[in-house]
Amino acid sequence: MTRQYKIAVIPGDGIGKEVMPEGIRVLEAAAKAYGFTLELEWHDFACCEYYAEHGQMMPDDWKERIGAVDAIYFGAVGWPDTVPDHVSLWGSLIQFRREYDQYVNLRPVRLMPGVPCPLANRKPGDIDMMIVRENTEGEYSAIGGISFPGTAREVVMQETVMTRFGTDRILRYAFDLAQKRPKQHLTSATKSNGIAITMPWWDGRVEEMAASYPEVRTDKYHIDILAAQFVMNPDRFDTVVASNLFGDILSDLGPACTGTIGIAPCGNINPDRSVPSLFEPVHGSAPDIAGKGIANPVGQIWCGAMMLEHFGEQDAADAVVRAIEATLAQAPLRTRDLGGSANTEECGKAVAERVA
Ligand code: NAI
Ligand code: MG
Repeated sequence: MTRQYKIAVIPGDGIGKEVMPEGIRVLEAAAKAYGFTLELEWHDFACCEYYAEHGQMMPDDWKERIGAVDAIYFGAVGWPDTVPDHVSLWGSLIQFRREYDQYVNLRPVRLMPGVPCPLANRKPGDIDMMIVRENTEGEYSAIGGISFPGTAREVVMQETVMTRFGTDRILRYAFDLAQKRPKQHLTSATKSNGIAITMPWWDGRVEEMAASYPEVRTDKYHIDILAAQFVMNPDRFDTVVASNLFGDILSDLGPACTGTIGIAPCGNINPDRSVPSLFEPVHGSAPDIAGKGIANPVGQIWCGAMMLEHFGEQDAADAVVRAIEATLAQAPLRTRDLGGSANTEECGKAVAERVA
């Protein structure tokens, strides 16, 4: 029986519309080369043009329209000239994350050939880690409030919410991932010296989980020194797990240490596969370069590889990552943000040819 995957394709705004066709081009090349088929359903919602017409980012019945897909392949959303960013973001991406309980935010961080590294004396291969961020609870809770606003007695509080259920499932995901990687090394981000209730508790959950993974070498760093170590000794890290806030910061710091936002991918994952996970580049809609055909398509293509991995198509996923590396290594095939001369389509075609 042929393996078939059904994918909701949502390009979104700005360069999302330009990099998405290249992502699809590469996925189709991978499908052909590795013997599976893709059923693609393109959607025009979750973009600001849809908002202009309908007064909302998505139709009320978006969930039915998306239906039972294996994944959502997403471009970028946002066009601040017409729709405020919090409206476009909360009306689209956040809906998917919540509704499908995509509790893992996964970001590979890897120094690629052809990408100038802002850290001195690092070469491709030196930085290669996976950042696993808890995506549903923690510091980003809606529990709290302001009392006596505008008076001298003004009081403001916002609670961190960590559950055993939510913490253990993200730790289990991170340990499973660490165990599968060659280095079998997991680092936990903590701050138990300052945040003296939730963080020592988090450390305790890590210790208990670690007992079930004797092969995985586990360590922990306070978030402040961990941020410094990302810059000074990024080669120390392999799999890094963190709460929502700490993970948010690390998952921008990590890719920043490897050069450009144009190539970084991201997965919003619910590993149980009963609901769709969402794969997207880290970058936004880049209004400053939209419409010129010069956006770097590698972030979109790379998150496509993550999607294939999520489907269990490991060989195809590895082939796409290798094709990205081979393409980036050649200056004429790189886009302008990386000092090359290729346009979006030329770069996408170069990756697709190498996959085929
Ligand atoms: P941005 O990521 O769109 O752009 C930041 C800078 O990086 C710009 O100078 C842009 O030209 C450049 N850049 C980004 N992606 C690139 C690529 N693939 N190739 C070459 N250069 C690239 O972030 P910005 O400007 O803060 O936000 C623009 C819009 O995107 C806003 O509406 C924002 O809300 C939205 N946004 C959406 C995200 C998403 O859909 N997940 C994530 C981040 C921002
Ligand atoms: Mg962030």
